[in-house]
Amino acid sequence: SLPPELQKRVDAHLEEYLSHKAKSNNGSRDGLYSTTSSNGNDEGLFEQTDLGPQIQVAMQQVYRIRSVQLQADQQAWQDSSDGWRMGEFRKSLPAYKEKDTILNAISQNQVVIISGETGCGKTTQIPQFILEHETDSLRGATCSIICTQPRRISAMSVSERIATERGEKLGDTVGYKVRLESIKGRDTRLLFCTTGYLLRRLLIDSNLKGVTHVIVDEIHERGMNEDFLLIVLKELLPRRPDLRVVLMSATLDADLFSSYFGGAPSVKIPGFTHPVHSYFLEDVLEKTGYRLTTENQIDDYGQERPWKSNKQFIKKRKSQIASAVEGVLLSADFRNFSQQTRESMSCWNPDCMGFNLIEFLLVTICENEKPGAVLVFLTGWDDISSLKEKLQAHYLLGDPARVLLLACHGSMASSEQKLIFEKPEGGVRKIVLATNMAETSITIDDVVFVIDCGKAKETSYDALNNTPCLLPSWISKVSAKQRRGRAGRVQPGECYHLYPQCVYNAFAEYQLPEILRTPLQSLCLQIKSLKLGSISEFLSKALQSPKLLAVQNAIEYLKVIGALDESENLTVLGRYLSMLPVEPKLGKMLILGAVFNCLDPILTVVAGLTVRDPFLAPLDKKDLAEAAKAQFSRNHSDHIALVRAYEGWKVAEYELTGHEYCWKNFLSAQSMKAIYSLRQEFQSLLNDTGLIDCNITIYNTWSYDENLLRAIICYGLYPGICSVVHNEKSFSLKTMEDGQVHLHSNSVNARDSKIPYPWLVFNEKIKVNSIFLKDSTAISDSVLLLFGGTLSKGDIDGHLKMMGGYLEFFMDPGLAKMYQSLRRELDELIQCK
Ligand code: CDP
Ligand code: MG
Repeated sequence: SLPPELQKRVDAHLEEYLSHKAKSNNGSRDGLYSTTSSNGNDEGLFEQTDLGPQIQVAMQQVYRIRSVQLQADQQAWQDSSDGWRMGEFRKSLPAYKEKDTILNAISQNQVVIISGETGCGKTTQIPQFILEHETDSLRGATCSIICTQPRRISAMSVSERIATERGEKLGDTVGYKVRLESIKGRDTRLLFCTTGYLLRRLLIDSNLKGVTHVIVDEIHERGMNEDFLLIVLKELLPRRPDLRVVLMSATLDADLFSSYFGGAPSVKIPGFTHPVHSYFLEDVLEKTGYRLTTENQIDDYGQERPWKSNKQFIKKRKSQIASAVEGVLLSADFRNFSQQTRESMSCWNPDCMGFNLIEFLLVTICENEKPGAVLVFLTGWDDISSLKEKLQAHYLLGDPARVLLLACHGSMASSEQKLIFEKPEGGVRKIVLATNMAETSITIDDVVFVIDCGKAKETSYDALNNTPCLLPSWISKVSAKQRRGRAGRVQPGECYHLYPQCVYNAFAEYQLPEILRTPLQSLCLQIKSLKLGSISEFLSKALQSPKLLAVQNAIEYLKVIGALDESENLTVLGRYLSMLPVEPKLGKMLILGAVFNCLDPILTVVAGLTVRDPFLAPLDKKDLAEAAKAQFSRNHSDHIALVRAYEGWKVAEYELTGHEYCWKNFLSAQSMKAIYSLRQEFQSLLNDTGLIDCNITIYNTWSYDENLLRAIICYGLYPGICSVVHNEKSFSLKTMEDGQVHLHSNSVNARDSKIPYPWLVFNEKIKVNSIFLKDSTAISDSVLLLFGGTLSKGDIDGHLKMMGGYLEFFMDPGLAKMYQSLRRELDELIQCK
């Protein structure tokens, strides 16, 4: 542990700080716990807690009177012509026919499961049925309904839609609350929020006081948060016998959920969709004028194809298609494809080959097919933005007079979001590039054509190797079917799957639930911050429990990084980490970046670790690329090299030469842009937790201290550490668990014959024959001691207590000075040692 003298100083500082804090602000700096909404609105019913009994009675009376008024307003709206038309639309939805059955089931059971075809009116209608039923003036009852959505954009768009249906302003009876944004008022009875928000709310209000109904939407997606919420709700039910829980889903395994909730009844809403014709890759190829031969070759069988209108265009297109398709066939042998070669599927990357094919299909549809919107499913934001860029440059697809080109993904702006539902006029074709969120949570009614790339980004986790990754992987059969179904909403449609039928046959039936395929560190932190007891005991109550080994790995990791103490209690650091919805190692860097006033470069490092490697290494120009990367690095760090590269890009981008800069330096412009927007996101997360104040720009004072950067990187990446052993001509590397390891050839450190530091911290190791380290930063002994802890566990405790002290200090900038003198003392002490 720490030297006794130092320990004493730390304790004294801490004590002084804590008493100061208790006097001055009662902990109100905790952004997350604050109960005032961002738009200054009264929080309405939802935040009412512990009022005195008289006030409560008075409030209830006011509430009743408001209810009657609202009821009258509703009646007036329904009698208006717009209201009548909307009413007729609502009655036409399949959910309406089941209204009574649903309300009956809810009144008689604590938990009800509702399933139905996407677009049948679950999300928009069922919460309204409950609202209307409960606020019926004859019954005079009060209600407050919370409906969760897996993504913030659906929470926002759905609440907006319902307000429109009810002829109200958003924030009257219906509102939403997502991170950073909220629209709700004192009359809000139906609140849409993200699942994450409800989980955080449970942190301060574990009994959900005042809430009458919780509706969990889209449970078929089996997201980690949803599975987690189900365990919490299941535990809550006996304590809140009056609480009603409604689970809603598209196609689902209703039995699984029903038996989880002790035989809860399920209601199925019968749906209807128009037939959709499916084309697989081989059929799509035929459309292009090519086909697959038995030798896996493409053959131009030279038939006259009726849709050919522009000969020259077709010729050019054909060569593009040919090269794209050849790429596909070279990388995977689809003819001999079977379940056993699932891995070989991953070498086929539909994103890179698919873009030409998608462009081709879009042109064909625009020129030859009946009217109707096109929905293109891609893997993620980066694909969407680069395809959009490509299409915008196209003579036809980029012409706004003929094509309305839109993107649809989780982080888009709400103004963009509304356009998606609009129906363009004057023969303009709407094309929407979407992630798998358009699969079930968003219904675009006028879609007639669907293009499905067959992949979705999903995290996977291998408990044995303890390594997570976020990669595009093949979707399930259920997803493919769902994507296809999106084309048949209003009339018969067509769906182009950009993969052969044999690949489809090998798809898994369902996607694995997220809880079984992602690292559990963040989840474990949340369990602890919600005070839900022992982690493994809690997780054993999940719908499908994760493997014991995965749980143990997560707990062990959290202990090593100091988020949990030996008896599994949350430390100060752990508490902060649980407020940041990012991987703990990234969270640690962010926190320390804020603490040490050098957030600017740390935001880049953290964003850089989240996106695809921005340093490109084309095989034929490997040397040039490595040399380009080396000019950013004088300091034996891949992470700091990225920071410098990004800073250069920002200047270039400002001078409108960003692309040239990337090209010259072998950088991916797409990754740079992604880093740019991720940085903003992380910054607002920190603002949420109260660690920084966005309005103050003091947090960059230390940005150019490279040793400090090293220290913070070490703090995040520990225990990913290896020692550097120098011999005469070069050096070798060793880790505790693996023995000898090597540097990945892309690392700037791989080019050096000497590293003037005794340690390297690394982000990731990959096993190919032997073990290779990706992205490393060299660090000194004192950095490792102060920021990584030594390699024996006993010392870590003292070290972390000290870190906890630092964090507390930061909460009050007035104490920053004191902390800095402490740090100087620490440094001196280390040097004496
Ligand atoms: O949740 P579910 O998939 O069952 O359907 P929903 O989201 O409640 O949508 C029901 C219908 O409302 C859709 O089929 C659309 O016709 C319409 N809707 C709309 O026009 N605009 C929206 N923003 C949302 C829904
Ligand atoms: Mg829905």
